[in-house]
Formats: sequence, structure tokens, C-alpha cells
Amino acid sequence: MGSEPGPFLIDHYNRRLSYLRISITDRCNLRCLYCIPRKGVPKLRHEDILTYEEILRIARIAVGLGVEKIRLTGGEPLLRKGIYSFLPQLASLPGLKDVSLTTNGVYLKGNLENIKSSGIRRINVSLDTLHREKYERITGQDRFEAVWEGIETARAMGFHPIKINVVTVKGLNDDEILDFARLSLDHPYYIRFIEYMPLGMGNPVIPLTHVSTDHIKEQLKEIGSLTPVTSGRFDGPAERFRFKGAAGEIGFISPLSHHFCATCNRLRLTASGSLRPCLLSDIEEDLKGPLRDGASDMELADIFKKAADMKPPSHYLASTGSIPPSGHMSAIGG
Ligand code: 5AD
Ligand code: SF4
Repeated sequence: MGSEPGPFLIDHYNRRLSYLRISITDRCNLRCLYCIPRKGVPKLRHEDILTYEEILRIARIAVGLGVEKIRLTGGEPLLRKGIYSFLPQLASLPGLKDVSLTTNGVYLKGNLENIKSSGIRRINVSLDTLHREKYERITGQDRFEAVWEGIETARAMGFHPIKINVVTVKGLNDDEILDFARLSLDHPYYIRFIEYMPLGMGNPVIPLTHVSTDHIKEQLKEIGSLTPVTSGRFDGPAERFRFKGAAGEIGFISPLSHHFCATCNRLRLTASGSLRPCLLSDIEEDLKGPLRDGASDMELADIFKKAADMKPPSHYLASTGSIPPSGHMSAIGG
């Protein structure tokens, strides 16, 4: 890793940063109770958000520094105007090997053609329940049907993999763990159980407690045994498994119980144009200011290197109980 030639972004802990998550908007049509308070959060002003042109320039510089994979997040990325002209431009950046999208799925169905024609095949959909009423309780909106239709249509159109992100919270959706897991038996979906992270939500509507991966694995024995799947090059921190003969997969993302910081290859670009080397630390390096002040590509590349230098070795969620990042998940991009 550290001995590889090239202008790669390598941090002080010998992690090569090759994956950039870009939040293209802080806005979201939902208010998932673990993410945004029901009353909402202050919105960034339009002029404080990077333009698509600025994002493309930053992405090109990132690719020049060895970034191979970009994921677009939000807020809800499909809410941002102009995204369907931007996507093909991003996806065709020379040297970029993978572009994917994380969405809440509400606006997926009507936009799948546009997404597909830009070359994107990999999508992650956040869906924490399979029940309409509970969906409304969790997100504040009665949109379960729209999300489910979006997922099914994406499958019919050949999107693959379609990952379904399930943030598990005690007493809220832990009674659906088996139902979600069974979906993977006859649907080609990758169900990913994510341990809820306590991210300074202030006073959530209900007390939020994570469900540990070990607890979920124990429950899943009722369905059958899980065989590990070898991770691919573009895989993130999920541990991957499959039930025998299943069409889909099961994944576990365990930021609390088995944190994966040692192999973290990520950087984040916030909607307001800062580089954030760690989701769970408030350290940020401003790119937008210098960019708008006329910085050269080299100077912007130096800011990337500075951000890499500041990437902390790991987070302390498990030991401190909670880390209160000042930005909400919806602005940082999850
Ligand atoms: N803990 C764990 N996952 C979260 N997400 C949002 N907030 C949290 C949290 N506090 C998830 C979303 C989405 C992904 C980008 O991050 O559900 O799937
Ligand atoms: Fe829910 Fe994602 Fe919107 Fe947050 S950004 S409220 S997790 S859909």
C-alpha cells in the first residue's frame, strides 16, 4: 500500500483513500427519526452549495489522486435539480471506475431511465421497515409504496446490485430482521443491516439504541446458515454472506461492535464543499473557499492531501457512547 508509486492519497496509517462520497445536497424529503429532527434542520443557502461544475472539477482532481470510486449521497440526491445532466458527466470522468448512488428511493421509479442511461447500475436504497405505517412513523412520510415500487422496477430494469440499507434500532424495527433477511432468499437484493450510530441527535423522538450485528446473526440462524461471500474490489465495510441457494445477500455494517476504521478508504465531500476525512469526527478542510478564490488544481490537490493527513486512526463511538458531530447526517452524507 504505502510503497505503491503514484500521487495516491495515503494517510498516516497507511490507508489509501480511493473512495469519495459526495453529498450533492443537504435537503431531504424525509425526516428519518435517527437522522433529522422532525422540525427539520437549517438548510444551506443555494450559494453555499457546490455547483455541479465545481463538483466535477473536484471529482476530476480526486481521480487524479487515485480516487476510483464515487458514491453520490445527500440528503436525498435525487431531489437536486439538474442531477440527470450531471450524472453522465460524472460517470464519464476518465479514470473513474465506479459511480453509485444512495437514495431513500421515494423518487426512484420515475427516474430510473435517466439513472440507467448515465451508466449507473449500483444503487443503495435506505429502507428500514417493510410496513407502510411504520415507514411513516420512521420517516414522517407515507411513501413506503413508492420506495418499494422503485426497488422492484430497478430490479426489473437490470440494476445490480440493489442494496437495501436497514438501520436497526431496538424496539423499532428489530422485529423485522428475519423478514428483511428472508427477502434475500428469492430476491437478488443485498440486505445490509447497519448498526445505528448515536450521532448527536439531541432529543430523538424515541430513545434510539443500536442492535448489535452479533445479535442479528444469532437471530438469522433460524433461517439457515450464512456462507461468507468474498468481498469485491469496490466493497465497503460490509461483511457479506449468503444463505444457501439464495438469490441475494446479507451484509452487516458494524460501526459500533466491530469498527472497520483500520481499512477505511473513504473521504467525504460535504454539500457545502468541505472535505471530511472521517464521518465521525468534525475535522473538515474547506475546498469551496479556495476554489472560488481561484485556486489551481495543484492547490486543490494539496487540500486533499491535507485532509488525508488529518484522517483520524479510528472513531471512539463504542467507548464514549456518542459522538456529536455538529453537522447532521443529512448534510454529511452518511
Ligand atoms: N446510524 C446509522 N446509519 C445511519 N444512516 C443515517 N443516519 C444513520 C445513523 N445515525 C444511514 C441511512 C443511509 C446511509 C447513508 O446512512 O439510513 O442508508
Ligand atoms: Fe432519511 Fe436519508 Fe433523508 Fe436522513 S437523509 S432523513 S436517512 S432519507
